[in-house]
Amino acid sequence: MTLSELLSPFSIGHCRVVSRVIAAPMAGITDLPFRTILKSCGAGLTFSEMVSVEALIRGHRKTYGILQRADGEVPFGIQLFGGNPDALAKAARQLEREQRCELIDINLGCPAKKVIRSGSGAALMREKQRLFMSVGKVVDAVSLPVTVKMRACDRPGDLRGVKLIPELFSRGIKAVFLHARCVSWNFSHPPEWKWIEMAVGMGRPIVGNGGILSPEDAVKMVERTGCDGVMVARGMLGNPWIFREIQQIVGEGKAAPVSFEERVETMKRHLSLSIRTFGEKQGILKMRKHLAWYVKGLPLASDFRGRINRLEDKRSILEEIRRYSKLIYEKYDNDG
Ligand SMILES: Cc1cc2nc3c(=O)[nH]c(=O)nc-3n(C[C@H](O)[C@H](O)[C@H](O)COP(=O)(O)O)c2cc1C
Repeated sequence: MTLSELLSPFSIGHCRVVSRVIAAPMAGITDLPFRTILKSCGAGLTFSEMVSVEALIRGHRKTYGILQRADGEVPFGIQLFGGNPDALAKAARQLEREQRCELIDINLGCPAKKVIRSGSGAALMREKQRLFMSVGKVVDAVSLPVTVKMRACDRPGDLRGVKLIPELFSRGIKAVFLHARCVSWNFSHPPEWKWIEMAVGMGRPIVGNGGILSPEDAVKMVERTGCDGVMVARGMLGNPWIFREIQQIVGEGKAAPVSFEERVETMKRHLSLSIRTFGEKQGILKMRKHLAWYVKGLPLASDFRGRINRLEDKRSILEEIRRYSKLIYEKYDNDG
């Protein structure tokens, strides 16, 4: 794909996606309030946090909370993790019957010990036979498009994930979200985008992921790899505007930096959404990390973070945001 095509719609199976700039699934982070913000900033497709198929089948209340989509959040993808092919298929069927989403993704990349021990995530990628049986059963169980998100390899040199791509497509997978790191690497390890480049051409669409921390990174990934879309993960933390910025930089050559005013309005809106969704206590707990990310790199950020972490009600947090904004405005005024 050329860079200008990044702004054009594409299809994942019969699911039409208006922008090829996609928000990654992130456990503990991409909940309904944050996805509402991401969508309003231009994310073409959003994903739930990963959902355990066993919990889903049991009707676990908290898991059902994860499945809630935001108003107008279409298309919406739900990511499943599980190691049992029949359970994966059953959960997928349940999601389709309940009309929860437009797309079902299978997690093949999670390296967390708990997930690996259950034979899910990266453990499923390692076992070809069980993997293909799982994919086949899920694809047969639903008419929704099924995708996979995986890492390029287990450890440097094996390229296990990349080599699976042709067969995954031939078994009915409609897109691959390829994280350009090994399972054995942590997130601080630089990604190897050449693995995305290798994957392009083995089947389409290949959406590249890993290391997009600025809008310029998205441009570089497309130019270097020719991937069919980009998936942003940590780059959207505290910067949901990255989706809009990527569109601006591709369409107009440069991105307008977000104003402090919009940043503050977004913080307040996100806080309200979080409290409305989870109640005041939980909503505030979940917001602490987001509020810290929103001010990261700004003056007095650590002081703001310390104060927010001691507050437990909405009114005090809004007051603290007001106090912090005033300090920043005064600082800018004094600095000319
Ligand atoms: C806190 C956190 C939670 C994550 N949760 C998930 C998840 O639920 N499912 C998934 O497929 N990947 C998950 N990931 C991986 C990201 O989707 C993404 O592949 C990874 O962060 C690499 O992209 P980046 O370098 O742009 O951050 C998670 C990553 C982080 C840091």
